[in-house]
Amino acid sequence: MNIVTNKLTKIVGAAFKKNGYNENYGLTLVSNRRDLGQFQCNGALASAKEYKKNPLDIANEVLSELKDNELFSDVNVVRPGFINITLKDEVIVDFLNSIDEDNNYGIIKDESKTIVIDYGGPNIAKPLHVGHLRSAIIGDSIKRIARIKGHHVIGDIHLGDWGLQMGLVLAQIEDELPSIKDYDGKGEIELNVGLDDLNEWYPKASKRSKEDEVFRDRASLITFKLQNKDPKYYNLWKEIAKLSTTDLKKSYDILGVEFDKWLGESDSDEYVDELITSLEEQGLLYESDGAMVVDVAKEDDDHTIPPVLIKKSNGGILYPTTDLATLIQRDRDFNPDYIYYVVDNRQGMHFEQVFRCARKANLIDDKIIIEHVGFGTMNGSDGKPYKTRQGGILKLSDLISTVIESARDKIQHLDYESDEKELIAKRVGIAALKFGDLINFRGKDYLFDLDRFLSFEGKTGPYLLYTVSRINSILDKAKEFSFEESDFITPQSEEERDLMLNLLFINDAFENAFREKAPNFIADYVYNLAASFNKFYVNSRILAEEDESKRGSWLKLLQLVKNILELQLSMLGIDTVTRM
Ligand code: ARG
Repeated sequence: MNIVTNKLTKIVGAAFKKNGYNENYGLTLVSNRRDLGQFQCNGALASAKEYKKNPLDIANEVLSELKDNELFSDVNVVRPGFINITLKDEVIVDFLNSIDEDNNYGIIKDESKTIVIDYGGPNIAKPLHVGHLRSAIIGDSIKRIARIKGHHVIGDIHLGDWGLQMGLVLAQIEDELPSIKDYDGKGEIELNVGLDDLNEWYPKASKRSKEDEVFRDRASLITFKLQNKDPKYYNLWKEIAKLSTTDLKKSYDILGVEFDKWLGESDSDEYVDELITSLEEQGLLYESDGAMVVDVAKEDDDHTIPPVLIKKSNGGILYPTTDLATLIQRDRDFNPDYIYYVVDNRQGMHFEQVFRCARKANLIDDKIIIEHVGFGTMNGSDGKPYKTRQGGILKLSDLISTVIESARDKIQHLDYESDEKELIAKRVGIAALKFGDLINFRGKDYLFDLDRFLSFEGKTGPYLLYTVSRINSILDKAKEFSFEESDFITPQSEEERDLMLNLLFINDAFENAFREKAPNFIADYVYNLAASFNKFYVNSRILAEEDESKRGSWLKLLQLVKNILELQLSMLGIDTVTRM
């Protein structure tokens, strides 16, 4: 709903009530048949069954009540019972004024809840890859949207730092650096290695573990020792974590993605004993093939849900264990109403198991709603998850450099100082990358097509930055005319009316985006707003207009469009540029 549909729903609802019908049938929404009216109510059709009456008759009764309403320039009924409403232009202007005067531009705040959003989820010691890109971009956007809707949001990166990958890297380091082999854990240790070394060693170790059982067992044992804070491995781990997080922070910084908490799997460690005791005491933990597991299948399941693995035969804990322990930690520390996990769809089973186990063992307060907010993959032109030309997994930092490089080419012709050009290239590149992702419903896979993402036409980030910079340039040229004191005048064209109406619908995008945890609703809105602005703009001559009240109104309209575009883009984590 938005300020207009809220009001119309009340008016039409009252008309239903006056005629003896339930007022809830007055729900009135933006019409998808603009030729018939700007707004539409389908309540007569919906109520026909309850009242055993012809919907057309109901609609006509309601119509007689609405006909003389002073807000409407037209209200009509069409078969089989739709009520169509068009507002007087002065009324549109009144609404526009209230949006313009509202600090939140008509975005309606919800009752505030505490929400933990788990996104990013990179693994330390492994390079960030494009799979982590979506989680970061989508999670960060959901966080911003939830905040503007009035919620208290805690964004947690949930580093992957306590699993087998750590054991693998640590085993590999021992083999690469003989000095480490002899280190007994006494005293501090300085690891004189770079990130490139780590990035090389992890894949090497991972490959080895698949071929070499002895190595695999050793890595697994090291993981177990690490989890028990064996001084040698724990100290080494701290060094790796430091190195890795410094680098991660750099990548997220370029992306413009922020986290409130940099907690990791390892931070759940202090809750693991409590978790296991609780599972044991409730008789839920049992041995299966040497491992300790909990059953989470239910009788009416239509697909198999395997037991959750809590402990390996060597005592090491696993991914589900850290997620369960983290749930206990989040409940205690944050007392949340919701926890959202912005994680690849392919981890659906993992979360299903974890959530079921948490409920079955009553690990967290019943009131907490836990949800896996899944997303699809970013695919290459072969329809498979995006890879490098050599077929390897592309590192996120390489992807970002490639995108910015291409953006640099695109804006080469601009005749500005090099610093400004560099800033524009970065912003255009990041906008292309983020918008190319967020315009798609998160649950779906999408095709990574850099040329299309970077285009200045169509549903792209650069098109939107270009639109904002176009408005800036007009406002800049209009500096000599002051328009702060101007009033909006009634729309002078269909394009202008459309643009004004679009501005009034801002809240719908936020409502949908927040409800579905789906930023694409905002992305769609911002594109439509920009497109309707551009249509209006090509058909009007703003600066050359001599009538001061028209010119002032238009400039004021431009300022409002710009503010709302920028606000919406910031919800997608996209920074604009002054000019380009
Ligand atoms: N580190 C994991 C991965 O790379 C993602 C973590 C997602 N969050 C969670 N609470 N499990 O696959």
